[in-house]
Amino acid sequence: MKIERRPSTALLPTPVVLVSVAGESAQPNMLTIAWTGIVCSAPPMLSVAVRPSRHSYRLITATRDFVVNIPPAELVEAVDRAGVWSGAEHDKFAELGFTARPASKVKAPLIEECPINLECVVRHQLELGAHDLFIAEIVAVHYDKELLDARGRLRTGAVSALGYVGGDYYTLGERVGAYGYSQKALRDKPETEG
Ligand SMILES: Cc1cc2nc3c(=O)[nH]c(=O)nc-3n(C[C@H](O)[C@H](O)[C@H](O)COP(=O)(O)O)c2cc1C
Repeated sequence: MKIERRPSTALLPTPVVLVSVAGESAQPNMLTIAWTGIVCSAPPMLSVAVRPSRHSYRLITATRDFVVNIPPAELVEAVDRAGVWSGAEHDKFAELGFTARPASKVKAPLIEECPINLECVVRHQLELGAHDLFIAEIVAVHYDKELLDARGRLRTGAVSALGYVGGDYYTLGERVGAYGYSQKALRDKPETEG
């Protein structure tokens, strides 16, 4: 039996990321974002939804770039704080113990303590209602060295990340499959099984 409820943002899980932004003349800032996702493969693009009331909104609209940093689950408390403190009152890099590193293609800094950093340049901005959607091209990606195998491929099992589900933070669970594995299982099925 299904129960229909009012429309809401009931998509789960969504990633929890730290979006870092260059300060205009002041220090760089960051904010926690759960309304984010990949929207195109080629060129690689993602979206982040930001309320116009955020301090970071002003910085993104001024600089037109940002970095999406994937925080490890161990940093969940700092991630939560970055999502309740405003850069208008706090130097979040200094107060949360994060290190700003220069990016290669954008003005916004990478957050050193996050093992994956995606440099993004805003290509579109859509006013949706509560949030503006920034659709951005990913122009460079950085990985902590230990996340990559000898051939430079991402060891996905080594990645620690956070998911957001109904207001709670979760870590990644068990690996239960891989892209296309259902087809391989069919192909590999012995003929005797019908
Ligand atoms: C888990 C979590 C997810 C959040 N997701 C978003 C989001 O997707 N968009 C948004 O505008 N604010 C989001 N926020 C709120 C901002 O991170 C928060 O208002 C922050 O203090 C803004 O910082 P700023 O004023 O320095 O930009 C989220 C907060 C948390 C804790």
